[in-house]
Amino acid sequence: MKKWNVASVRAAKGVRKLGCCTAYDACFARLADESGVPIILVGDSMGMTVLGYGTTLPVKMEETLSATAAVARAAKNAMVVADLPFGSYQCGDDIAMKNAVDCIKAGADAVKLEGGARVSNLIKRMTEAGIPVLAHVGMTPQSVNEYGGFKKQGKTAAAAHQILVDAEKVEAAGAFAVTLECIPSELAAEITSKLSIPTIGIGAGPDCDAQWLVMHDLLGLNESAPSFVKRYADLAGEVRRAFSAYVEEVASGRFPS
Ligand code: KIV
Repeated sequence: MKKWNVASVRAAKGVRKLGCCTAYDACFARLADESGVPIILVGDSMGMTVLGYGTTLPVKMEETLSATAAVARAAKNAMVVADLPFGSYQCGDDIAMKNAVDCIKAGADAVKLEGGARVSNLIKRMTEAGIPVLAHVGMTPQSVNEYGGFKKQGKTAAAAHQILVDAEKVEAAGAFAVTLECIPSELAAEITSKLSIPTIGIGAGPDCDAQWLVMHDLLGLNESAPSFVKRYADLAGEVRRAFSAYVEEVASGRFPS
């Protein structure tokens, strides 16, 4: 199978819906890759799923680079997207460029950043420098303090219009795809039909061109996943069962035999 790239992701719009997910280490990236996941996002959701924080805000650039390198070493066919963490692209465009370049040097095929019109100049600069950018509009978790929680966005006509404008701006700036997070499904459907680049939804209904799920949610490792999530496994239960059996067998002398 050929490795997914910007051209094949764009060409899938209207032809095939893509089920994409996050991964943060080589073990799960390899399993996702072998299972045919087309895009693996090294999401800043790692702050919540693996680092134990309550938001994505504390994630550091070094953590993103280390996780990106691990995922890129394991993913043979999937496109690997590094999610620029909070602070890595807000302190000046030169710093943002350097951080995006470092992600590509770590093995990413593209970077993702949050925001619409306000980051469109930066998206343009990155794409002109040969760094493919996946944009992210709607509920952008790095703005959690502005929202006062992880809340659905685009619920009023004005807010919905702004999200549509943001999506159009990132497309015009050169983004090859755009994440639509936690917005009404009718709005996601409208944006998907108006844009020529693929939309990748999460909590944005069935009409997007592709979907994201956070790996820990889809595998059932996170037992307090958002309500829009579908769990495809109950790994938390399976992992607890294995750990308990091991502890019990060592205590009872059945292992090692
Ligand atoms: O960090 C992440 O996992 C994300 C997805 C929710 C798209 O940004």
